[in-house]
Amino acid sequence: MQKRLSQQTVLLSACALLITACGSNTTNSSPNNTPNTTNTSNTISIGIAAAQTSNVALLGQEQVAGAKIAEKYFNDQGGINGTPIKLVFQDTAGDEAGAINAFQSLINKDKVVGIVGPTLSQQAFSADPVAERAKVPVLGPSNTAKGIPEIGDYVARVSVPVSVVAPNAVKAALKQNPNIKRVAVFFAQNDAFSKSETEIFQKTVKDQGLELVTVQKFQTTDTDFQSQATNAINLKPDLVIISGLAADGGNLVRQLRELGYKGLIIGGNGLNTSNLFPVCKALCEGVLIAQAYSPEHPGEINAAFRKAYVDQFKKEPPQFSAQAFTAVQVYVDALKALDNKSKVSQLQLPQLRTELNKQILAGQYKTPLGEISFTPVGEVVQKDFYVAQIKMEKDGSQGKFAFLK
Ligand code: ALA
Repeated sequence: MQKRLSQQTVLLSACALLITACGSNTTNSSPNNTPNTTNTSNTISIGIAAAQTSNVALLGQEQVAGAKIAEKYFNDQGGINGTPIKLVFQDTAGDEAGAINAFQSLINKDKVVGIVGPTLSQQAFSADPVAERAKVPVLGPSNTAKGIPEIGDYVARVSVPVSVVAPNAVKAALKQNPNIKRVAVFFAQNDAFSKSETEIFQKTVKDQGLELVTVQKFQTTDTDFQSQATNAINLKPDLVIISGLAADGGNLVRQLRELGYKGLIIGGNGLNTSNLFPVCKALCEGVLIAQAYSPEHPGEINAAFRKAYVDQFKKEPPQFSAQAFTAVQVYVDALKALDNKSKVSQLQLPQLRTELNKQILAGQYKTPLGEISFTPVGEVVQKDFYVAQIKMEKDGSQGKFAFLK
């Protein structure tokens, strides 16, 4: 009781200092005329639109974990010059409608200053235009298809595109087996990212002078890949490259191995999660996946992020968590920089969203991914990339990503 009273006193004093922030929000529900500090307390709300349900949650869960670590870390450091941030989570589930709903709630109901999300590029092409029309900044934490930042002025991303990351995996495969000649490519034809990534993989195969022996298509909702896998195996490939998501991708890896394929397998960005391990178990062994993050990246902020993640989850942080942390960090750093120029508590929400968008694009950020910045269109500029290989326990119960030198 004592504690509750004192919390209320603190809240009331905060409201007294920030009358516009705490008062008008309850009386004015117009999304276009609300103050920047939203909700009932003195916090700055940032929206997280990630897949918490459906198969896409295999990726989205890792994003939620990374964002929550960022929320605690940056609030422990004093938030936005003393004002805490509050993350508002809306589940996008796995499709476009879910992402649009999540965006609309965050923009109109939760009155966030900006959004981190959605999980899939496929969702971003439908949901990001909603934010663009409302003039609300969006930072894609994992959207890697070509053309995402070009959706609009308010859309940027911290996830480097397929063109930058995917070729590294092919080069790593050739290093492990210089005799690779024949390549079979698989991709999910109902997924924008997978279609974009396979184009890059197919181009890389040709650029490396390799023979593309077949291109097999599937759907992210498929569970049976017998016919595509058999077609490909009959052509005797010595490298298989898969662009899909985690559940379908994991099942495809498992069925290729069960049907006797022995060569190297490259998984694309949609397979870049340890949530793949329960799907293909011991048969995940050896899959090569390019990475936009390494837990060993030097620097203070990555050390702090890595420690927080390892303390909580008892394993190394994955790329999707690091990217979500980074997206929250970009908001925090940009809000601080903006606040130093003109107090964010004095800005009306529409103006804050617009100024914040400009500040995001102008800044440079020391993040767990390394130092990043943005091009004028909102494409991330990042320096360091890696390739990891899945190593499974013999019984398939556990595994890890081993980073290649
Ligand atoms: N990188 C994947 C996408 O863009 C998750 O959809």
